[in-house]
Amino acid sequence: MRVRHRLIISLSISIAMVAFVFAYFQVRSQKRALRSDLEKRAEILAESLVDNVEPLLSGQSWGQLQLLLDRFENREALDGVAVYATNGTKIAVASTLETQLDKAPAAVKAAILNDKGVSQFFNLNGVPMEVYALPIHGNGGVEGVLALYHNASFIEAQSLRLWRDTFLRLLVETILVAFICLLIIRISILEPVTKTAQWLRALRTGKGLRSATLPAEEIFQPIAREVTQLAKTLEVARTAADEEAHLREVGEAVWTAERLRLHVRNHFRNKPIFAVSNREPYIHVHKNGGIECLVPASGLVTSLEPILRACDGTWVASGAGNADRQMVDNKDRLRVPPDDPHYTLRRVWLSKEEEKGYYLGFANEGLWPLCHIAHTRPTFREADWRQYRTVNQKFATALLEEMEGTQEPAVLIHDYHFTLLPRMVKEKRPDARVAIFWHIPWPNAEAFGICPWQRELLDGLLGADLAGFHIQNHCNNFLETVDRTLECRIEWDRFAVNRRGHFTLVRPFPISVVFNNETAHSQNQATPPDAQELFGELSAEGTLMGVGVDRMDYTKGIVERFRGIERFLEKCPEYQGKFSFVQIGAPSRTDIQQYRDLVEEIESEANRINSRFQKGAWKPIILLKRHHSHQEIVRYYQAADLCLVTSLHDGMNLVAKEFVATRSDGQGVLILSRFTGACRELRDALIVNPYDTEQLAEAIRFALTMDLEEKRLRMQRMRRVVREHNVYRWAASLVSELSEIRLDRPESLKVQ
Ligand code: G6P
Repeated sequence: MRVRHRLIISLSISIAMVAFVFAYFQVRSQKRALRSDLEKRAEILAESLVDNVEPLLSGQSWGQLQLLLDRFENREALDGVAVYATNGTKIAVASTLETQLDKAPAAVKAAILNDKGVSQFFNLNGVPMEVYALPIHGNGGVEGVLALYHNASFIEAQSLRLWRDTFLRLLVETILVAFICLLIIRISILEPVTKTAQWLRALRTGKGLRSATLPAEEIFQPIAREVTQLAKTLEVARTAADEEAHLREVGEAVWTAERLRLHVRNHFRNKPIFAVSNREPYIHVHKNGGIECLVPASGLVTSLEPILRACDGTWVASGAGNADRQMVDNKDRLRVPPDDPHYTLRRVWLSKEEEKGYYLGFANEGLWPLCHIAHTRPTFREADWRQYRTVNQKFATALLEEMEGTQEPAVLIHDYHFTLLPRMVKEKRPDARVAIFWHIPWPNAEAFGICPWQRELLDGLLGADLAGFHIQNHCNNFLETVDRTLECRIEWDRFAVNRRGHFTLVRPFPISVVFNNETAHSQNQATPPDAQELFGELSAEGTLMGVGVDRMDYTKGIVERFRGIERFLEKCPEYQGKFSFVQIGAPSRTDIQQYRDLVEEIESEANRINSRFQKGAWKPIILLKRHHSHQEIVRYYQAADLCLVTSLHDGMNLVAKEFVATRSDGQGVLILSRFTGACRELRDALIVNPYDTEQLAEAIRFALTMDLEEKRLRMQRMRRVVREHNVYRWAASLVSELSEIRLDRPESLKVQ
């Protein structure tokens, strides 16, 4: 039986029972009242009559007695009057019932016996009657009995009417109650339950949840909370299952550390690889009376480190930590990572002047703004250029030392700090396979043309066998720049430059991050933290969290991002007190005035916006201006409702990919600048122009109101891209391309 039927039937039965009991007592008491009323009336009448009867009975005046009795006949409900002798025989009677009243009823005998008036209800041939018998005195004793007969059928009739009215009332009440019950069940239970079921079905079938909503009724809140939680768990499980299924399907295509190791071993026949970069993967610094080891905030380190870990080899980099010298051996080497050594780090020492001219000056005040179209003017100084050349030579010497004894070594040179290095190495070691990977954008030929030493830079780069960029567009810009600047032949059909008989292949290799459980989980925490937990740790308030993670660099668009947040809070004031943006900003290149100014600008913008909106412990922007470890950052990625990457110009931007790689729950929205290399691959991010404040604000609003299912689908597709195009695949493609290059043969071996 259906619940609603059960409910209605049980309610109707209960109502009927209660009504019946009430009606029963009501009828009973009404009957009693009517009876006693009738008895009272009979008693009064009998007493008024008896005084007249007494003398007639004593005087045996039967004729007069009959006349007297006849006068009372048919009064109101009085059906008859009779006088009986003490032995019960009839003396006189006035009634249509005469024949039926021959036999004295029990009340008459009782009245004689007890010498007092007695009332009795009885049935006279099927008619309910009441008789009141009153003794008649005379001659010092009871001489007879006066009996008044009343018709009592009106009592039954009234009781019956009462029963009938009660029944009808009961019927109407039951129908009304059943109807109200149905209505309440429908509105308060069936509709919310149907809504919940539709919501769950939409979730189960993977259809959008946009059309279905959970009931808002208060009584359903505990269920809604649980169901929402269940949905989240289901989403996580489904995402994991999808990912696993997809992994199985594309098992061959997914690159892992182990696969890369075997790949490198096969392609380079067990020879170690040599990497060169300015930034070292581990920096040792004096701290709190001891020496601490830090991993610097750098996209380059993020991508190169897992490869060296997987393949072993030597990484040559500038030793920049104030405790670095204490950690190396007499050949300036140490095995790293310090707690689990997998490869060799060779540190190169630079003087203050060298660092100033090569790193701060030429690389970061010249080439960095030259290649990033972020409206900061490059500065080129002759003295910086000299230092830049010297340092490139210094690195070449160190690298050549490391490569000694290795035939046909594979060399991976990184970034704009070492444009001259490929040719320097190749001149000394023509058997080396040299690749240079450019981690930043390559601008168009006009923009690059303002560099006074563009010819030397291009010539140095073309010493490499392979030049890699993040995207095709940068490759095209590079080839056009070379075409316009140097004497050489561009082979557009195979994207190669032939300079004096040496070929440099130019290829896009979109760099990426590691994608596995290490990325997804911060090492010390089994369950990812939620926003409230992190706000609590920061002594802040809020329920929705945005996150940004950057080196404090003018190319990252941090100020533009803050303005977008400000505009969002203006347009959507309902988010004030709820949405808070955590900006993790690692101070960077602070020896350069422009960078110091930028830090001040970022701080003052954050303060200005905070003072506009701040309420109690809540503020719109929480600026964490210090270096954070990878584990610390992952916790913010995992808890954030959205991640903002608003670079004004960026080669790739690995923060975007790291955020995606950590979101194994399939949640979190990525808002990504269209001026990053990453936006070519992460099509499911909300792509924005960071200069367009209105668009940024709108993207934040859209991200915060996006339904779970859409978030999941977008994140799932982006995760697929990052998983399949992880950093191991990036390295593997670079290695494959490099290993297949035909080395230039020495002049002596060339066929005439
Ligand atoms: C960018 C560059 C890297 C550099 C990093 C950090 O990601 O592409 O080459 O390592 O910034 O810059 P820094 O000057 O601190 O090494």
